[in-house]
Amino acid sequence: MTARRTAILISGRGSNMRALVEAAKAPGFPARIDLVLSNRADAAGLDFAAAEGISTHVLDHKQFRDRHTFDEALHRVLVDHGIELVCLAGFMRLLGGDFVSIWQDRMINIHPSLLPAFKGLHTHERVLEAGVRITGCTVHFVRPEMDAGPIIAQAAVPVAPGDTADTLADRVLAAEHATYPKALAIVASGRFSIEGDRVSTDLPVDPALGLFVP
Ligand code: GRF
Repeated sequence: MTARRTAILISGRGSNMRALVEAAKAPGFPARIDLVLSNRADAAGLDFAAAEGISTHVLDHKQFRDRHTFDEALHRVLVDHGIELVCLAGFMRLLGGDFVSIWQDRMINIHPSLLPAFKGLHTHERVLEAGVRITGCTVHFVRPEMDAGPIIAQAAVPVAPGDTADTLADRVLAAEHATYPKALAIVASGRFSIEGDRVSTDLPVDPALGLFVP
């Protein structure tokens, strides 16, 4: 099977993008990273992608009069690169309903909590304030509502006594880097179905991790 042409959208550091790029180097991985796009020219992740020989593109949202024209330009860039799948990885722009429906079931996102808990920003601060003992990360198909959509993979991460938002973020980030490639592999392999909010796959699940293992 030919690997699916994939774009990763970032706004900053790009450590999840890096994890996807590294995973996609494995022989037989069902996705190949063909484009890394950022809405910010200063996104640190762009340098890494360029050094890996991946096409990079900056679309500065401030240059567009509204969300719709930004989304249209974004769609054009993706089509120009022959992109089939889109991974949002720390991409800090909301995408409009039209764009989301064009890419429905072909666009995925990672969020640093066990959704549907703790949607939105400042996740780890809110997790600590709420006193929960277990948090984690979620990869899900994108729907128009922020941080919502059918869940592909999750990983649980314990909250340790004495955690700060930074120490917790680091631990969750390590889980993100392990989880996102697995979720992308499920989607790119095409071995899944979606019914309502439920994703099924015939790929084996690791019960200890609660993760699908491609
Ligand atoms: C990650 O925690 C991701 O879950 C969230 O934004 C952060 C991006 O980090 N959506 P990075 O740019 O991938 O390093």
